[in-house]
Amino acid sequence: MKDNLDFRSDTVTKPTDEMRRAMASADVGDDVLGDDPTVNELQDYAAGLVGMESALYVCSGTMGNLTAILAHTQRGDGIMMGAKSHTWINECGGAAGFAGVMPYPLDDETGIPTVESIRSSFQSSGNVHHAPTTLLTLENTHNRSGGIPADSETFSLVAGEARSLGLKIHLDGARIFDAVAFFKNDVKEYSLAVDSIQICLSKGLCAPMGSVLCGSAEFIGRARKYRKALGGGQRQSGIAAAAGLIALRDMRKRLSEDHSNAALLADLLLGIGIDVEPVPRRTNMVYFRTPPAIRDEALFERTCAKRGVRLLASGKGRIRMVTHFGIDEPSVRRAVDIIKEVSAQ
Ligand SMILES: Cc1ncc(COP(=O)(O)O)c(C=O)c1O
Repeated sequence: MKDNLDFRSDTVTKPTDEMRRAMASADVGDDVLGDDPTVNELQDYAAGLVGMESALYVCSGTMGNLTAILAHTQRGDGIMMGAKSHTWINECGGAAGFAGVMPYPLDDETGIPTVESIRSSFQSSGNVHHAPTTLLTLENTHNRSGGIPADSETFSLVAGEARSLGLKIHLDGARIFDAVAFFKNDVKEYSLAVDSIQICLSKGLCAPMGSVLCGSAEFIGRARKYRKALGGGQRQSGIAAAAGLIALRDMRKRLSEDHSNAALLADLLLGIGIDVEPVPRRTNMVYFRTPPAIRDEALFERTCAKRGVRLLASGKGRIRMVTHFGIDEPSVRRAVDIIKEVSAQ
């Protein structure tokens, strides 16, 4: 039988049997009217977990980030974000297109931007020529840098600098529990340093859809209106929120298994001569250069896929592999055997 090993992303995870059972029996209502008990339970649980007043269930990470930007800013504001952040590169320019804000890119080559880059990009409202900076967005863990998690000391230092400049801070915490699993710390060490956090339920946490956006009650009140404006007001969404509850309660506790498998994957790839990107801290992602024998990254992606290993050509010769609930240690070993054969062709 052909192998079917999907390392493209942790978004390929499917709901667990327990999630499917919870979805089938979920108590539901009209969430736009605030009547869905399962959505309300998810929102209360999320807010409690991160130590914030309130939370909002949104359709996706992209919607959570955009809703936060809309609720934090006015049109014409400046917003600082990493030049390699998901919000900058992979969210269709929604911040500019829908919120009308002017992005100032920060150097985030190693994940979290530096205090110096924040200081030097900041534009005060006092200068008539500039879009005044009002918001900083951060990403932890940081996808493009290789899934690097920021530790809470560095994170608080950066957030503290932004606060001292009077900025609001939004955290794209799509994979914040990977950072928490890595450092074995508490999510509050990050969430309490920011004004809002978006957490994806549909990535390593295995829910079929959805994110939670958390913040103050006043902020979430505004975000609720923007969610509706973006078409994200759903009705009996407790069906999906039931899986989200299991994601947040239970699935976050197993993420270190993915990290061990990613470390093994990186070691085995290095062992067969693959040029793996070194990162200071490995979570669930491995990036490497396309093997010289193939050179063309799209061809490498297609050839591996034909052999039953799916991975992602990520541009400029970079290949990404992500470990998740559907990948165990034998899957990692089998994938590397196949990559070795493909690379030798
Ligand atoms: C860091 C990060 N933020 C946000 C998102 C957006 O999430 P979604 O695909 O649910 O819109 C992703 C998606 O992969 C991501 O990697």
